[in-house]
Amino acid sequence: FQPKFMKGTKVLLTAGPTFERIDAVRGITNSSSGKMGFSIARAAAEAGAEVTLVAGPTPLVTPAGVRRIDVVSSKDMLAAVNAEVPKTDIFISVAAVADYYVLNPSEQKIKKDAHILTLELAPNPDILANVAGLAEPPFCVGFAAESENLLEYGEQKRRRKKLPLLVANQVQTAMGADDNEVYLLDDHGQHKLPRAAKLDIARAIIQHTAKLYREYHPK
Ligand code: C5P
Repeated sequence: FQPKFMKGTKVLLTAGPTFERIDAVRGITNSSSGKMGFSIARAAAEAGAEVTLVAGPTPLVTPAGVRRIDVVSSKDMLAAVNAEVPKTDIFISVAAVADYYVLNPSEQKIKKDAHILTLELAPNPDILANVAGLAEPPFCVGFAAESENLLEYGEQKRRRKKLPLLVANQVQTAMGADDNEVYLLDDHGQHKLPRAAKLDIARAIIQHTAKLYREYHPK
């Protein structure tokens, strides 16, 4: 690989959790730290790509040279991604998008009383599946965090969402940690990246992505 092997390539990423509002102070979220997605954004920028990072709520610092768009809810993330996709060569979807949003969030803080409180939840659209299903999609990379049957569920997800590449990791290993251990699933089969710091894993994912992208889009 040349040092700037992604020069001229436009990469769009999502990272972090989303936050779905319940009322003025509360919401539903998940335990994604954003570290994996931010590391991949950094690795892509180091490789010379033009990187746009759509980030859910996280205190992480924006990597050097990366354009960042902050969002809160899954709906905001979908709108930001849809606006950027036409200018994108490679879309890497690392965000842990909340599966549901609250149907009628309250403007005011909900007061507590002795009664059972019921929240009505509706499913969120799948941002990645929408992008991968476009007539002319960018090269799409997905993530799957599974707590069991990692490779089987990962490959099913890759096929269902029509992704040339899916990165599968074990929830118990990945969430919040500084290192990770992942499998790359593509049309050639399964390839394990041994346990390493998230930045090293990110650099390996970016190299593999660039290689596959060139296979799919020979110049
Ligand atoms: O189906 P599951 O949520 O496990 O799929 C994970 C992959 O799909 C990740 O790449 C994630 O960023 C993406 N995703 C998405 N929109 C959703 C749910 C997941 O883009 N609503």
